Amino acid sequence: MKFFIDTGNLSQIKEAHDLGILDGVTTNPSLMAKEGIKGEAAIANHYKTICELVDGDVSAEVLSTDFATIVEEGKKLAAIHPNIVVKVPMIKDGVKAIKWFTDNGIRTNCTLVFSAGQAILAAKAGASYVSPFIGRIDDSGWDGMELIAQIRHIYDIQNYRTEILAASIRSALHITKAAEAGADVCTCPLDSILGLLKHPLTDIGLAKFLEDAKKM
Ligand code: E4P
Repeated sequence: MKFFIDTGNLSQIKEAHDLGILDGVTTNPSLMAKEGIKGEAAIANHYKTICELVDGDVSAEVLSTDFATIVEEGKKLAAIHPNIVVKVPMIKDGVKAIKWFTDNGIRTNCTLVFSAGQAILAAKAGASYVSPFIGRIDDSGWDGMELIAQIRHIYDIQNYRTEILAASIRSALHITKAAEAGADVCTCPLDSILGLLKHPLTDIGLAKFLEDAKKM
């Protein structure tokens, strides 16, 4: 499973990259706004900086919702760097735009996916990635991980090549469960990635080894 970091924060991206396990980055308008990135030029510049930090796919989301404008916006985003993947919402014009991007060699990440039916449409349109939002499904009282397993099953029996990108990850356990359910990629906040490191027996074991090492 590939690891992406889900943030627009450059120092967090750098920290995850320095761990040596980072395969890419996803952003969304909320994450970009959190970093105070405003205006077309600043947004493009920020994506370029991220692409220069990480050698992997970087999802950049369109802000429009009609076919023609999504296509224009996506073309501009894709021109920023070869690693840009245009992130498009799961709406009617979005699906149409994903098909257009697919036919024109532009890679896409279909976002805001909450059902297997939506994931089928994304794959049929040729999306490079489909992003089911695990945490938000859990928040609404359903099991987000069941959706990952269901999409995995459908994609395997139908031979869809779209990669399943588990999104809206809230914990280290979500990452482990996404791997178990067969996600191709997991996009995670830095805290969840670092959470994978933790086990009390590792800390206790290391403290003992270091203590005993003094006797060597
Ligand atoms: C990723 O592509 C999504 O934008 C992101 O994971 C959403 O996460 P959230 O539900 O924590 O906002």
